[in-house]
Amino acid sequence: MYYIGVDLGTSAVKLLLMEGNGKIEKIVSKEYDLSFPHPGWSEQKPEDWWTQVIAGLKELTSEVDKTKVAGISFGGQMHGLVTLDADDNVIRPAILWNDGRTGKETDYLNTVIGKDKLSQYTANIAFAGFTAPKILWMQENEPGLWAKVAKIMLPKDYIAYKLSGSFCTDYSDASGMLLLDVKNRCWSKEMMDICHVSEAQLPKLYESYEVVGTIKPEVASELGFTNDVKIIAGAGDNAAAAVGTGTVGEGKCNLSIGTSGTIFISSKNFTVDPANALHSFDHADGGYHLMGCMLSAASCNKWWMDEILKTKDYPAEQAGIKNLGENHVFYLPYLMGERSPHNNPDARAMFIGMSMDTTREDMTQAVLEGVAFGLRDSLEVARSQGIKIERSKICGGGAKSPLWQQIIASVMNLKLDILENEEGPGLGGAILAAVGCGTYASVEEACQAIVRVKETIEPDPELIRKYEERYQEFKKLYPTVKSLF
Ligand code: XUL
Repeated sequence: MYYIGVDLGTSAVKLLLMEGNGKIEKIVSKEYDLSFPHPGWSEQKPEDWWTQVIAGLKELTSEVDKTKVAGISFGGQMHGLVTLDADDNVIRPAILWNDGRTGKETDYLNTVIGKDKLSQYTANIAFAGFTAPKILWMQENEPGLWAKVAKIMLPKDYIAYKLSGSFCTDYSDASGMLLLDVKNRCWSKEMMDICHVSEAQLPKLYESYEVVGTIKPEVASELGFTNDVKIIAGAGDNAAAAVGTGTVGEGKCNLSIGTSGTIFISSKNFTVDPANALHSFDHADGGYHLMGCMLSAASCNKWWMDEILKTKDYPAEQAGIKNLGENHVFYLPYLMGERSPHNNPDARAMFIGMSMDTTREDMTQAVLEGVAFGLRDSLEVARSQGIKIERSKICGGGAKSPLWQQIIASVMNLKLDILENEEGPGLGGAILAAVGCGTYASVEEACQAIVRVKETIEPDPELIRKYEERYQEFKKLYPTVKSLF
């Protein structure tokens, strides 16, 4: 039988077809537009996601026996606000996870309601990209549109709804709404009151590996699938990536270098960062996790290559980089503001320290290093709480670059386990589908059977020392320039 993982990302949807034993048959990617209608805003059309998911499913299964597709599940970009009216029409473009328009609403939640109360109700405080501040923004700025809202959902849940008709979400993704009582895995009544939403407007909650319904007959017939295909709840993309990299159970770590950059630490028991700098969320394996998220990671490199250097040949640009640890240029990676740990939607990116002998390679290197330093900021928060992390998995587009792997390993002083397949969320989605269909008894069991480490990147002792000095300098930069933002 076949299991499909749908990774609904920010630049594209990636679909992965997996056999029950974990063998990957095919991967297909379909892009869609991302619009920035105002500086710091970020939106996408849910209808575009659906069109590309259907096109992707057709291409993915074009050469196999379609009647063998047993289950479909998801890893989805988190926090996005998708709103439907009573007739299931999309009311406005989705407001995405990296949208920074809600500074006022975030401040209101953190200061007027108060961080202590938010943390007590949800285990988290408000960050601009979270869903609850977006709901408040819509109520204040688009009251006419808000009045029509019958259903509130997250990006991947829109796809599950279109496929199955089930109005559902999972605990890992719901954790990022600031409406979920993460510890007790239920909607928070207090947060629903604060945000003026009713439980009827919110999706039904499931574990990530639970079946939420079966495919609608008309969709099955368009795709050539049987009517028995099961739709499984899926997870937020970081929890799905953690499943796809085997970051499940107690005390494991995954770094994801995608459009965003995240550090994800799995735990069997509920934990909360006392300062709430790290998010405390439910995991797709039935447990919990702590996570730090930087808003621009591989997207910094993409921006620098595509928009500024006007090249698509990333390896060629990295080939000339020879002086690791000795760059005199710093880059602050805050192209879309920053989430962890600064929580500042108004922060912006910067290059600092150029001189007449600065080269193109120095600037490219600074971008790669700046992202690694930004991720280290979140790792430091975890380490300051006594969490010991010595090794990590790594996934996402940025994880493909051997140079970036070495920079990240040495900046963070972590052994990095490189996997046979770095398609974290897509593979995680397919694994969740296989568990939901009963092929494996648990997510942990499935990961043990499927996820394979290919090689380990050891941090270089000399580079650890050099990057330690550089990181201590980097840490001083944000507080110094903060007042400019
Ligand atoms: C996590 C987050 C991002 C998005 C990217 O909190 O906002 O990683 O999920 O898709």
